[in-house]
Amino acid sequence: MRLFTVDGSKCKGDGICVVECPMGVIEIKQSDAFPSVTENGEGLCINCGHCVTVCPHGAFSLTTMKPEDCTLVMEEKLPSAAQVEHFLKSRRSARAYKEERVARDVLTKVIEIAAYSPSGHNDQPVHWTVIESSEELHRLRVLTIDWMRSIVEAMPDSEFTLTLERFVESWELGRDSVLRGAPHLIIAHANKSVITSPVDCTIALSYLELAAHSMGLAACWAGAIQTAAGLYPPMTEALKLPSEHQSFGAMMIGYPKHRFPRIPLRNDPQVSWR
Ligand SMILES: Cc1cc2nc3c(=O)[nH]c(=O)nc-3n(C[C@H](O)[C@H](O)[C@H](O)COP(=O)(O)O)c2cc1C
Repeated sequence: MRLFTVDGSKCKGDGICVVECPMGVIEIKQSDAFPSVTENGEGLCINCGHCVTVCPHGAFSLTTMKPEDCTLVMEEKLPSAAQVEHFLKSRRSARAYKEERVARDVLTKVIEIAAYSPSGHNDQPVHWTVIESSEELHRLRVLTIDWMRSIVEAMPDSEFTLTLERFVESWELGRDSVLRGAPHLIIAHANKSVITSPVDCTIALSYLELAAHSMGLAACWAGAIQTAAGLYPPMTEALKLPSEHQSFGAMMIGYPKHRFPRIPLRNDPQVSWR
Protein backbone atom coordinates (compact mmCIF):
# COMPACT_ATOMS: atom_id res chain seq x y z
CA MET A 1 0.00 0.00 0.00
CA ARG A 2 1.28 3.50 -0.80
CA LEU A 3 2.37 5.43 2.25
CA PHE A 4 1.12 8.79 0.99
CA THR A 5 -0.20 10.72 -1.97
CA VAL A 6 0.39 14.33 -2.93
CA ASP A 7 -2.23 16.40 -4.73
CA GLY A 8 -0.22 17.90 -7.57
CA SER A 9 -2.75 20.67 -8.09
CA LYS A 10 -2.17 21.93 -4.50
CA CYS A 11 1.49 21.10 -3.76
CA LYS A 12 3.85 24.09 -4.04
CA GLY A 13 7.00 22.00 -3.64
CA ASP A 14 8.04 24.10 -0.61
CA GLY A 15 9.50 21.02 1.16
CA ILE A 16 7.95 21.80 4.56
CA CYS A 17 6.81 18.16 4.82
CA VAL A 18 10.38 17.02 4.19
CA VAL A 19 11.80 19.20 6.96
CA GLU A 20 9.07 18.37 9.51
CA CYS A 21 9.05 14.59 9.02
CA PRO A 22 10.68 13.22 12.21
CA MET A 23 11.77 10.02 10.47
CA GLY A 24 13.17 11.57 7.31
CA VAL A 25 11.05 9.40 5.03
CA ILE A 26 10.00 12.15 2.61
CA GLU A 27 12.19 13.65 -0.09
CA ILE A 28 11.88 15.92 -3.11
CA LYS A 29 14.21 14.49 -5.70
CA GLN A 30 14.47 17.50 -8.03
CA SER A 31 13.36 21.07 -7.57
CA ASP A 32 10.27 20.62 -9.77
CA ALA A 33 9.24 17.20 -8.36
CA PHE A 34 6.57 16.38 -5.79
CA PRO A 35 7.44 14.78 -2.42
CA SER A 36 8.08 11.03 -2.57
CA VAL A 37 9.05 8.29 -0.09
CA THR A 38 12.76 7.82 0.49
CA GLU A 39 14.27 4.43 -0.28
CA ASN A 40 13.14 1.97 2.42
CA GLY A 41 11.18 4.80 4.05
CA GLU A 42 7.79 3.04 4.02
CA GLY A 43 8.40 0.94 7.11
CA LEU A 44 9.91 3.81 9.09
CA CYS A 45 6.88 6.11 9.12
CA ILE A 46 5.47 6.50 12.65
CA ASN A 47 2.12 7.84 11.41
CA CYS A 48 2.44 11.04 13.43
CA GLY A 49 0.61 12.99 10.73
CA HIS A 50 3.00 15.95 10.80
CA CYS A 51 3.36 15.85 7.00
CA VAL A 52 -0.41 16.07 6.58
CA THR A 53 -1.08 18.72 9.20
CA VAL A 54 1.89 21.01 8.53
CA CYS A 55 1.14 21.40 4.81
CA PRO A 56 -0.44 24.85 4.43
CA HIS A 57 -1.99 23.83 1.11
CA GLY A 58 -3.74 20.62 2.26
CA ALA A 59 -1.84 18.80 -0.49
CA PHE A 60 -0.46 15.90 1.54
CA SER A 61 -2.44 12.76 2.43
CA LEU A 62 -1.19 9.72 4.29
CA THR A 63 -3.14 6.61 3.37
CA THR A 64 -4.12 6.49 7.06
CA MET A 65 -4.78 10.23 7.53
CA LYS A 66 -6.28 12.75 5.13
CA PRO A 67 -6.16 16.54 5.68
CA GLU A 68 -9.96 16.74 5.62
CA ASP A 69 -10.09 14.31 8.59
CA CYS A 70 -7.79 16.52 10.68
CA THR A 71 -9.33 19.37 12.71
CA LEU A 72 -8.24 22.85 11.66
CA VAL A 73 -6.39 24.75 14.38
CA MET A 74 -8.57 27.74 15.27
CA GLU A 75 -6.57 30.64 16.66
CA GLU A 76 -9.70 32.07 18.29
CA LYS A 77 -10.10 28.87 20.33
CA LEU A 78 -6.57 28.98 21.74
CA PRO A 79 -6.26 30.45 25.25
CA SER A 80 -3.86 33.31 25.84
CA ALA A 81 -0.60 32.70 27.72
CA ALA A 82 -2.09 34.44 30.76
CA GLN A 83 -5.17 32.18 30.63
CA VAL A 84 -3.00 29.07 30.36
CA GLU A 85 -0.88 30.22 33.30
CA HIS A 86 -3.96 30.82 35.44
CA PHE A 87 -5.54 27.54 34.34
CA LEU A 88 -2.43 25.47 35.13
CA LYS A 89 -1.82 27.15 38.46
CA SER A 90 -5.45 26.75 39.51
CA ARG A 91 -5.48 22.95 39.09
CA ARG A 92 -5.63 21.22 42.48
CA SER A 93 -5.50 17.68 43.75
CA ALA A 94 -8.95 17.00 45.18
CA ARG A 95 -9.38 15.13 48.47
CA ALA A 96 -13.17 15.43 48.75
CA TYR A 97 -15.65 14.30 46.09
CA LYS A 98 -19.39 14.35 45.68
CA GLU A 99 -21.02 10.92 45.57
CA GLU A 100 -22.44 11.72 42.14
CA ARG A 101 -20.92 9.71 39.31
CA VAL A 102 -19.47 11.33 36.21
CA ALA A 103 -21.32 10.31 33.05
CA ARG A 104 -19.45 7.92 30.80
CA ASP A 105 -19.51 10.33 27.86
CA VAL A 106 -17.73 12.96 30.01
CA LEU A 107 -15.08 10.45 31.12
CA THR A 108 -14.73 9.30 27.52
CA LYS A 109 -14.13 12.91 26.49
CA VAL A 110 -11.25 13.43 28.96
CA ILE A 111 -9.72 10.13 27.86
CA GLU A 112 -10.05 11.13 24.20
CA ILE A 113 -8.26 14.42 24.93
CA ALA A 114 -5.50 12.53 26.76
CA ALA A 115 -4.95 10.51 23.59
CA TYR A 116 -3.37 13.68 22.12
CA SER A 117 -0.49 13.60 24.62
CA PRO A 118 2.96 12.93 23.17
CA SER A 119 4.30 9.37 23.20
CA GLY A 120 7.72 7.96 22.34
CA HIS A 121 7.92 7.11 18.63
CA ASN A 122 4.22 8.03 18.48
CA ASP A 123 3.56 4.51 19.76
CA GLN A 124 0.47 5.62 21.71
CA PRO A 125 0.76 2.57 23.97
CA VAL A 126 -1.57 3.79 26.73
CA HIS A 127 -4.64 1.73 27.62
CA TRP A 128 -7.22 2.90 30.12
CA THR A 129 -9.22 1.01 32.69
CA VAL A 130 -12.01 2.97 34.36
CA ILE A 131 -13.24 1.50 37.61
CA GLU A 132 -16.63 2.76 38.73
CA SER A 133 -18.16 -0.27 40.46
CA SER A 134 -18.37 0.62 44.15
CA GLU A 135 -17.63 -2.99 45.12
CA GLU A 136 -14.50 -3.03 42.99
CA LEU A 137 -13.35 0.36 44.28
CA HIS A 138 -13.85 -0.88 47.83
CA ARG A 139 -11.81 -4.01 47.12
CA LEU A 140 -8.92 -1.86 45.82
CA ARG A 141 -9.08 0.37 48.89
CA VAL A 142 -9.00 -2.64 51.22
CA LEU A 143 -6.09 -4.21 49.33
CA THR A 144 -4.15 -0.93 49.47
CA ILE A 145 -4.63 -0.75 53.22
CA ASP A 146 -3.63 -4.45 53.53
CA TRP A 147 -0.45 -3.66 51.59
CA MET A 148 0.25 -0.63 53.83
CA ARG A 149 -0.20 -2.74 56.96
CA SER A 150 2.23 -5.31 55.57
CA ILE A 151 4.86 -2.59 54.98
CA VAL A 152 4.34 -1.07 58.44
CA GLU A 153 4.85 -4.52 59.94
CA ALA A 154 7.89 -5.37 57.82
CA MET A 155 9.68 -2.01 58.08
CA PRO A 156 8.57 -0.38 61.35
CA ASP A 157 11.51 2.07 61.45
CA SER A 158 11.38 3.35 57.90
CA GLU A 159 10.40 6.97 57.21
CA PHE A 160 7.96 5.72 54.57
CA THR A 161 6.19 3.72 57.29
CA LEU A 162 5.24 6.90 59.14
CA THR A 163 3.26 8.11 56.13
CA LEU A 164 1.62 4.74 55.62
CA GLU A 165 0.68 4.56 59.31
CA ARG A 166 -1.25 7.79 58.93
CA PHE A 167 -3.17 6.36 55.96
CA VAL A 168 -3.99 3.22 57.98
CA GLU A 169 -4.97 5.16 61.12
CA SER A 170 -7.25 7.38 59.10
CA TRP A 171 -8.80 4.30 57.42
CA GLU A 172 -9.40 2.76 60.86
CA LEU A 173 -11.27 5.91 61.86
CA GLY A 174 -13.64 5.23 58.95
CA ARG A 175 -12.14 7.68 56.45
CA ASP A 176 -11.35 6.76 52.87
CA SER A 177 -7.68 7.69 52.99
CA VAL A 178 -6.98 5.83 49.75
CA LEU A 179 -9.54 7.11 47.25
CA ARG A 180 -11.03 10.02 49.21
CA GLY A 181 -14.53 9.01 48.21
CA ALA A 182 -13.86 9.49 44.49
CA PRO A 183 -16.50 7.60 42.48
CA HIS A 184 -14.06 6.63 39.70
CA LEU A 185 -10.49 5.44 39.40
CA ILE A 186 -8.80 5.67 36.01
CA ILE A 187 -5.74 3.50 35.49
CA ALA A 188 -3.25 4.09 32.68
CA HIS A 189 -1.53 0.86 31.70
CA ALA A 190 0.59 -0.28 28.82
CA ASN A 191 2.76 -3.03 27.49
CA LYS A 192 5.71 -3.28 29.88
CA SER A 193 8.10 -4.20 27.04
CA VAL A 194 7.62 -0.77 25.36
CA ILE A 195 10.43 1.29 26.92
CA THR A 196 8.53 4.58 26.86
CA SER A 197 5.35 3.12 28.44
CA PRO A 198 5.98 4.58 31.95
CA VAL A 199 6.54 8.12 30.69
CA ASP A 200 3.82 7.87 28.02
CA CYS A 201 1.29 6.84 30.68
CA THR A 202 2.44 9.58 33.05
CA ILE A 203 2.11 12.29 30.41
CA ALA A 204 -1.27 10.96 29.28
CA LEU A 205 -2.51 11.04 32.87
CA SER A 206 -1.29 14.62 33.23
CA TYR A 207 -3.26 15.57 30.12
CA LEU A 208 -6.27 13.76 31.54
CA GLU A 209 -5.98 15.61 34.85
CA LEU A 210 -5.83 18.97 33.05
CA ALA A 211 -8.71 18.07 30.74
CA ALA A 212 -10.74 17.10 33.83
CA HIS A 213 -9.90 20.46 35.44
CA SER A 214 -11.08 22.30 32.33
CA MET A 215 -14.46 20.55 32.62
CA GLY A 216 -14.97 21.36 36.29
CA LEU A 217 -14.13 17.83 37.40
CA ALA A 218 -11.91 17.01 40.36
CA ALA A 219 -8.98 14.62 40.17
CA CYS A 220 -6.02 13.42 42.19
CA TRP A 221 -3.15 11.06 41.46
CA ALA A 222 -3.77 7.79 43.29
CA GLY A 223 -0.15 7.18 44.25
CA ALA A 224 -0.96 4.69 47.00
CA ILE A 225 -2.98 2.48 44.65
CA GLN A 226 -0.31 2.75 41.98
CA THR A 227 2.50 1.80 44.36
CA ALA A 228 0.52 -1.15 45.70
CA ALA A 229 -0.20 -2.21 42.09
CA GLY A 230 3.53 -2.46 41.47
CA LEU A 231 4.57 -4.04 44.78
CA TYR A 232 1.68 -6.09 46.16
CA PRO A 233 0.75 -9.17 44.11
CA PRO A 234 -2.87 -9.39 45.41
CA MET A 235 -3.40 -5.81 44.15
CA THR A 236 -1.71 -6.53 40.81
CA GLU A 237 -4.04 -9.52 40.45
CA ALA A 238 -7.13 -7.57 41.46
CA LEU A 239 -6.54 -5.00 38.70
CA LYS A 240 -6.95 -7.78 36.10
CA LEU A 241 -4.85 -6.03 33.48
CA PRO A 242 -3.67 -7.94 30.40
CA SER A 243 -0.68 -10.11 31.38
CA GLU A 244 1.80 -8.16 29.21
CA HIS A 245 0.63 -4.86 30.76
CA GLN A 246 1.67 -2.93 33.82
CA SER A 247 -0.13 -0.10 35.59
CA PHE A 248 1.93 3.09 35.29
CA GLY A 249 -0.40 5.50 37.05
CA ALA A 250 -3.87 5.94 38.46
CA MET A 251 -6.14 8.95 38.91
CA MET A 252 -9.14 9.51 41.19
CA ILE A 253 -11.85 11.43 39.42
CA GLY A 254 -15.27 12.83 40.25
CA TYR A 255 -17.06 16.08 41.02
CA PRO A 256 -15.40 18.32 43.61
CA LYS A 257 -17.05 18.88 46.98
CA HIS A 258 -15.16 22.15 47.37
CA ARG A 259 -13.73 24.83 45.10
CA PHE A 260 -10.33 26.39 45.76
CA PRO A 261 -10.76 30.16 45.55
CA ARG A 262 -7.01 30.73 45.90
CA ILE A 263 -3.81 29.34 44.42
CA PRO A 264 -1.27 28.05 46.99
CA LEU A 265 2.35 29.20 46.97
CA ARG A 266 5.00 26.94 45.50
CA ASN A 267 8.78 26.87 45.87
CA ASP A 268 10.79 28.96 43.47
CA PRO A 269 12.01 26.75 40.62
CA GLN A 270 15.53 25.36 41.08
CA VAL A 271 17.22 26.15 37.81
CA SER A 272 20.81 25.89 36.63
CA TRP A 273 21.72 27.93 33.57
CA ARG A 274 24.76 26.90 31.57
C1 LIG B 1 2.79 10.65 41.54
C2 LIG B 1 1.84 11.29 42.51
C3 LIG B 1 1.17 10.51 43.45
C4 LIG B 1 0.25 11.09 44.32
N1 LIG B 1 -0.45 10.29 45.17
C5 LIG B 1 -1.39 10.82 45.99
C6 LIG B 1 -2.17 9.98 46.85
O1 LIG B 1 -2.04 8.75 46.86
N2 LIG B 1 -3.09 10.57 47.64
C7 LIG B 1 -3.28 11.92 47.65
O2 LIG B 1 -4.14 12.40 48.38
N3 LIG B 1 -2.56 12.74 46.84
C8 LIG B 1 -1.63 12.23 46.00
N4 LIG B 1 -0.90 13.03 45.15
C9 LIG B 1 -1.19 14.47 45.10
C10 LIG B 1 -0.06 15.32 45.72
O3 LIG B 1 -0.08 15.20 47.09
C11 LIG B 1 -0.29 16.77 45.23
O4 LIG B 1 -0.03 16.84 43.87
C12 LIG B 1 0.60 17.78 45.96
O5 LIG B 1 0.31 17.83 47.33
C13 LIG B 1 0.43 19.19 45.39
O6 LIG B 1 -0.93 19.62 45.41
P1 LIG B 1 -1.63 20.08 44.07
O7 LIG B 1 -1.65 18.89 43.15
O8 LIG B 1 -3.01 20.50 44.45
O9 LIG B 1 -0.83 21.21 43.49
C14 LIG B 1 0.01 12.48 44.27
C15 LIG B 1 0.66 13.26 43.31
C16 LIG B 1 1.55 12.68 42.43
C17 LIG B 1 2.20 13.53 41.36
